[in-house]
Amino acid sequence: MSTLPNSVSIVEVGPRDGLQNEPLAIALQDKVDLIHGLANAGLQRIEAGSFVSPKWVPQMADSSAVFASLTQQLDTRYSALTPNMQGLEAALEAGVQEVAVFAAASESFSQKNINCSISESIERFKPVVNHALENRINVRAYISCVVGCPYEGTIAPQAVADISELLIELGCYEVSLGDTIGIGTAGSIATLLDVVANRIEVDKLAIHCHDTYGQALSNIYASLQYGIQTIDSSVAGLGGCPYAPGASGNVATED
Ligand code: HMG
Ligand code: MG
Repeated sequence: MSTLPNSVSIVEVGPRDGLQNEPLAIALQDKVDLIHGLANAGLQRIEAGSFVSPKWVPQMADSSAVFASLTQQLDTRYSALTPNMQGLEAALEAGVQEVAVFAAASESFSQKNINCSISESIERFKPVVNHALENRINVRAYISCVVGCPYEGTIAPQAVADISELLIELGCYEVSLGDTIGIGTAGSIATLLDVVANRIEVDKLAIHCHDTYGQALSNIYASLQYGIQTIDSSVAGLGGCPYAPGASGNVATED
């Protein structure tokens, strides 16, 4: 049995991944109260919004206003998704402390989610990462569909490792491996990490589990066995991706 890490770091994605899928408009103040509540609960990394097209994800349209309303809590870092330069410019204007780009390991999901191929997305992220770093803003990266895709089925671990390397080369400090539709098992996560953790330093990897079939906690346990110490979760298990049919909530932070 491998040694488990002594501690883990939690990235709370509820205000973004959790709320982005809610069909009814949520009031700005309710979002801000949720984020402050999470910070007061001791969460130090909180993804608080998303600077994406409001036509694609209407719920995140008020992210600038959310960031303008946040009070800085000691030790808490607020981040946001930025798919392109337009999103980054808006995030910088809103005073975001960290941003994240998001790619996919499946071509079909990349097209459905960000309207471009995987290689086009990497090209699109280059100026985003460069400009963020010039502004002393760290950049995280996500890869969706790391074990399976709602459109293409099983995804090869090598594809995930290849994209992880590209994202690290661009200057992203961490790659969060997303089981977007929650179809991973401890076995498929191990198969993935046998390849990915062999090519990417494990302290640059995070795991992002949706919990469609109740496997998120065992998938996280499998990841801990590979030395992964950064875990994404969402308060109350909220979550889902509008472009991933079947995706249910993220693993619940309280779990
Ligand atoms: P596009 O239509 O190809 O973009 O969308 P475009 O550059 O051609 O621009 C078209 C229009 O969008 C223009 O407006 C732009 O101004 C506007 P118009 O002239 O038509 O009025 N636009 C923007 N508006 C605001 N902010 C922006 C922005 N960019 C363009 N940043 C785009 C490409 C990437 C913008 C679109 O596909 C998009 O917004 N996609 C986001 C989808 C999304 O947010 N999905 C959920 C997050 S990912 C996820 O949940 C997975 C994750 O949790 C990990 C996991 O679980 O696997 C991270
Ligand atoms: Mg997600």
